Amino acid sequence: MFQIEIEHLNKSYGHARVLKDISLQVPLGAFVALVGPSGCGKSTLLRTIAGLEKITSGTLKIAGVVVNDKPPRERDVAMVFQSYALYPHMTVEDNMTYALRLRHRPKREIAERVADVAEILGLGLLLGRTPRALSGGQRQRVAMGRAIIRDPKAFLFDEPLSNLDASLRVKMRGEIRKLHQRLGATSVYVTHDQIEAMTMADMVVVLRDGAIEQVGAPLTLYQQPVNRFVAGFIGSPAMNFVPAILVDDGNSLLLGGDAACRLRLGQRRAPGRAVLAGLRPEHLTLGGVGKAQTFAARVESVEGTGSMTFIEMSIAHGATAGAGDAVMLTLAQSGISTVRPGDRVTVGIDPADIYVFDPDSGLALQADPAP
Ligand SMILES: Nc1ncnc2c1ncn2[C@@H]1O[C@H](COP(=O)(O)OP(=O)(O)O)[C@@H](O)[C@H]1O
Ligand SMILES: [Mg+2]
Repeated sequence: MFQIEIEHLNKSYGHARVLKDISLQVPLGAFVALVGPSGCGKSTLLRTIAGLEKITSGTLKIAGVVVNDKPPRERDVAMVFQSYALYPHMTVEDNMTYALRLRHRPKREIAERVADVAEILGLGLLLGRTPRALSGGQRQRVAMGRAIIRDPKAFLFDEPLSNLDASLRVKMRGEIRKLHQRLGATSVYVTHDQIEAMTMADMVVVLRDGAIEQVGAPLTLYQQPVNRFVAGFIGSPAMNFVPAILVDDGNSLLLGGDAACRLRLGQRRAPGRAVLAGLRPEHLTLGGVGKAQTFAARVESVEGTGSMTFIEMSIAHGATAGAGDAVMLTLAQSGISTVRPGDRVTVGIDPADIYVFDPDSGLALQADPAP
């Protein structure tokens, strides 16, 4: 059963098409993240679900009912913003109960729900304070409490954590996730941060330029990106893209078009064409272990954070890269590395971890069916 159903939704501001033919189904109780670069239309999509923006065409259903022409208050969804949007002169309790009081709910019901929600969010001792007397994390919790208390059909979050410092953000991420596990409320969560999307959501929607690029479980997006954009957006540091040529029976490629950098592939593709090889930094190993294919590279720079080391390397000058152009790659390894700029190293990768993309369309090149 789907709680939110979007079919062929379009949204334009004047001549600017901001959302392009969006179709998306959010299962009841799911936690869905909308992720994509700034300006790709995440907030606009969320606001059309909330009813804060009118759609240009398409259908939008919430809990089975078409809501295209319904005002926000009749949609029964709750928005949680980055800015919290709390009333500064009201206490925590009054902020949380505002919507219920507006609807003239009985006093006893309101009191019971405040007690429940305060308990869930650990706000019991703060009910009498005003937002000014709260930390950022506490304010965020009050904003969530205000949404939860209404028991809405869906929660809509627009980058709710981006005003918090890094450590608090990680903590609140876990809190929101736990809250979702406890309440099971359908949630749509907007973020530009792919790590946030990957760690919080059951289902991730990658948007680019107003259109959906891919929808899938977090690890599906990581393991089977449909195109170069998704491959480069999901994963940190980002995937390396290296011009290459498919050779032999289509079961090997030459990195940078260089015969000295021949890598066997896990699966065969149609041979004899130029492609982009996608190599994730965390799949590259120094020295090359196990089933790894190897190639030679030169260390250009080394960045250590203690727990991780990021090594920038150049590989052979390839035909497709243009003579004299070094192809650069990032390798990520855990812990501290002893390599130094200028070192010659051998780099390995498991054939199954090599992605192949069409250089023009950016689409992932699927393996050929077995002959
Ligand atoms: N009220 C508006 N009028 C015109 N253009 C807008 C309006 N709101 C947003 N846009 C444009 O729509 C695009 C998507 O914006 P937005 O949904 O805010 O992106 P995101 O939340 O992904 O950063 C942007 O190009 C933005 O400039
Ligand atoms: Mg936004």
